[in-house]
Amino acid sequence: MVRLATSFDASAIATLFHETVKKVNSRDYDVKQIAAWAGAAPDVAKWRARQAGRTTWVFEVGGTVRGFAEFGANGQVEAIYVHADHQRKGIASALLVQIEEEARRLGGARLYTETSTTARGFFQKRGFKVLKPAEVDAQGSGFTNFRMAKPLL
Ligand SMILES: CC(C)(COP(=O)(O)OP(=O)(O)OC[C@H]1O[C@@H](n2cnc3c(N)ncnc32)[C@H](O)[C@@H]1OP(=O)(O)O)[C@@H](O)C(=O)NCCC(=O)NCCS
Repeated sequence: MVRLATSFDASAIATLFHETVKKVNSRDYDVKQIAAWAGAAPDVAKWRARQAGRTTWVFEVGGTVRGFAEFGANGQVEAIYVHADHQRKGIASALLVQIEEEARRLGGARLYTETSTTARGFFQKRGFKVLKPAEVDAQGSGFTNFRMAKPLL
């Protein structure tokens, strides 16, 4: 089920992010890029602090977090990560439905994201289109991400 995250979820979110980048995004990015992206270890304080400026949902099964997503200002999907062992089960889709509902409730006309090569197929399937590739500098390991948008009808 999808529910709003609390500060108590920060540890699970930090660990899931760290593991998913290392196990899933490593298909599409090199070792240096993955090290810069994942960080040396799960950063619980960072993920707890991020909750202040965003709406964060988790997808939970039996008390275990299997995915999370962040919705920020100006219609931005700021993060969406699914546990490496639970890919392609509809978890990210369920999280995105929540974001779309919230965006509509706030009167937004479009959703935006700056996403990875890994997630591009997912966002395309969910109705996003690439606006332009964007160079993102993650601690000096610059790599290409894609700015994508979806109109909310
Ligand atoms: C991208 C990601 C969030 C998708 O999560 P997921 O729960 O596996 O996605 P879903 O199961 O809801 O996928 C829905 C549909 O999107 C499409 N899709 C998902 N992953 C895809 C991929 N790697 N390539 C192509 N299409 C994909 C498929 O059509 C899929 O439906 P299907 O499985 O019935 O074919 C997940 O792969 C992930 O955690 N990636 C690493 C983290 C990341 O890069 N996040 C984005 C940066 S913010």
